[in-house]
Amino acid sequence: MATKLEDVGVLMTSPMSSYLEQELNNRFKLFKLWESPSKTQFLDCYADSILAVVGDTKIGADAELIESLPHLRIVATYSVGLDKIDLDKCREKGIRVANTPDVLTDDVSDTAIGLALATLRKICACDGFVRSGLWKYGDFQLCSKFSGKSVGIIGLGRIGSAIAKRAEAFGCTIGYNSRSKKHNINYTYYSNVVDLAANCQILIVSCALTEETRHIVNRDVIGALGPKGILINIGRGALVDEPELISALLEDRLAGAGLDVFENEPVVPEALLGLDNVVLLSHVGSDTVETTKGMADLVVANLEACFLNKPLLTPVV
Ligand code: DGY
Repeated sequence: MATKLEDVGVLMTSPMSSYLEQELNNRFKLFKLWESPSKTQFLDCYADSILAVVGDTKIGADAELIESLPHLRIVATYSVGLDKIDLDKCREKGIRVANTPDVLTDDVSDTAIGLALATLRKICACDGFVRSGLWKYGDFQLCSKFSGKSVGIIGLGRIGSAIAKRAEAFGCTIGYNSRSKKHNINYTYYSNVVDLAANCQILIVSCALTEETRHIVNRDVIGALGPKGILINIGRGALVDEPELISALLEDRLAGAGLDVFENEPVVPEALLGLDNVVLLSHVGSDTVETTKGMADLVVANLEACFLNKPLLTPVV
């Protein structure tokens, strides 16, 4: 039976977008977890009213939260990534899960290319050089070209494929690693990441974070990429062994890195802050006005579909 939407309690786990908050508030009974002084106190009072959780890349729905909500029917995440949701627990309890694929593919892949360009062409450092007035004392250092380089992509899903398409337009050759070889694709497939790294100049991490892919970029992969190699990560911080990355950068065993994501966000290792061969972003891959609206609309549409007994638009579970 369909449920009256205004009776559906929706729990947002952290502040995401004010537009999303408004849209949820207009349709459902919205609860904001972060406004409560204590999670335990909140759950004691309202757990019975919550039928839906809206999480994001910071706080999703772990086993503890899922277990504490006896009437939970759906987790709709304001992200494409699912690593903050206990999917097994959702499956076990028959709880639906939806995410926000496709609408953010352009922005996240644009960010990957932007990071590659910024890292190789030292765009941020050169901006600092001009602002600090140093230009009048001499020219900025030479940097390295992006066009025509070999690009290796870990994870050739929607975002990885969009990155490949963009890199091709820069005349780059493309290699990739994924769980299996893709059919009807001319890029070179490497069944292991070390071989991919050994055969590219720029390694772009674009796969989902799971127990299998955690630290998929480790010391061996960084070693194979080598002292002229560049690492770009727009996936999740934990896909890269961060201490290994930092020592490689400090010891000139890697030329540079462009990172949108970190293992312990929003904390970024102090050592990275002092390096001029890295470009650091604050997990903003999909953060444009246009895309965040598209993501918010998709979250709302999935929730409406769930409680009106219609098929979810972007189901995961
Ligand atoms: C997501 O939505 O999972 C991504 O992290 C956006 O950058």
